[in-house]
Amino acid sequence: MSALLEVSQLSSYHGQLPAVREVSFSLQAGQVVALIGANGAGKSTLLRTVAGLHAPSAGSIRLDGRDITHLGPEKRAALGVVLVPEGRRLFASLNVEENLLTGCYRARPGGWDMDRVIELFPWIRERRRQPASQLSGGEQQAVAIARALLANPRVLLLDEPSLGLSPAALRRIYAVFPELVRSGLGIVLVEQDVRRALQVADRLQCLLEGRQTLEGAPEDLQVEQIEAAYFGIAYRGDGVGA
Ligand SMILES: Nc1ncnc2c1ncn2[C@@H]1O[C@H](COP(=O)(O)OP(=O)(O)OP(=O)(O)O)[C@@H](O)[C@H]1O
Ligand SMILES: [Mg+2]
Repeated sequence: MSALLEVSQLSSYHGQLPAVREVSFSLQAGQVVALIGANGAGKSTLLRTVAGLHAPSAGSIRLDGRDITHLGPEKRAALGVVLVPEGRRLFASLNVEENLLTGCYRARPGGWDMDRVIELFPWIRERRRQPASQLSGGEQQAVAIARALLANPRVLLLDEPSLGLSPAALRRIYAVFPELVRSGLGIVLVEQDVRRALQVADRLQCLLEGRQTLEGAPEDLQVEQIEAAYFGIAYRGDGVGA
């Protein structure tokens, strides 16, 4: 059986700069792969390459065994690969409901509709006519996720959903993860908060200067090993980075 998403030996450049170097991972339905790494490690470039917003220089991306490496972003979204970009990117001049409706444009058929996303984030019902620009950061993140869900994705690419959120807002965003996973979505989550990533991830990937420095199930990884992979220091296996 092929994986829901299979990324193989993927490389991506910004001009001369290799931002993603030969990265491989796979994702099953109902699974969360967390992608961690310092600023500039290549996390967003990797997600954008998977979403089709950035062309890879090498490697392949398969969805359910089908090669989508050279499809444009709209076609990938129509097949169910949907990105919630860093910084949310709502339309400030549109109200909450209008922002959500943009997610329905060319949506796949599936279980997510307006009622169901409002069940997930009940406060949206009262505030659907409010301009998106008046929402808090956490509320904007919720709307960005809800908008992506309305497209009925199979693979959700979440780029730093916790960026700039208060601890309470962050908890509210992560509280919906179990429901997303139950629905059979596969999630690639970019997260700077390593502890948080470890709580929700089935697999953890660490990037350093575009390269994978660590891959594994959270329960099999030592904190010291993760820190070493994150900062690029050697791990001696005795709990001390050299
Ligand atoms: N549009 C761009 N043009 C040129 N270089 C870029 C561009 N976007 C990113 N880069 C460079 O590519 C590398 C990877 O950037 P990327 O944004 O993918 O990292 P990141 O891991 O998402 O970082 P952060 O945690 O800060 O969001 C960095 O060195 C960055 O400076
Ligand atoms: Mg980024």
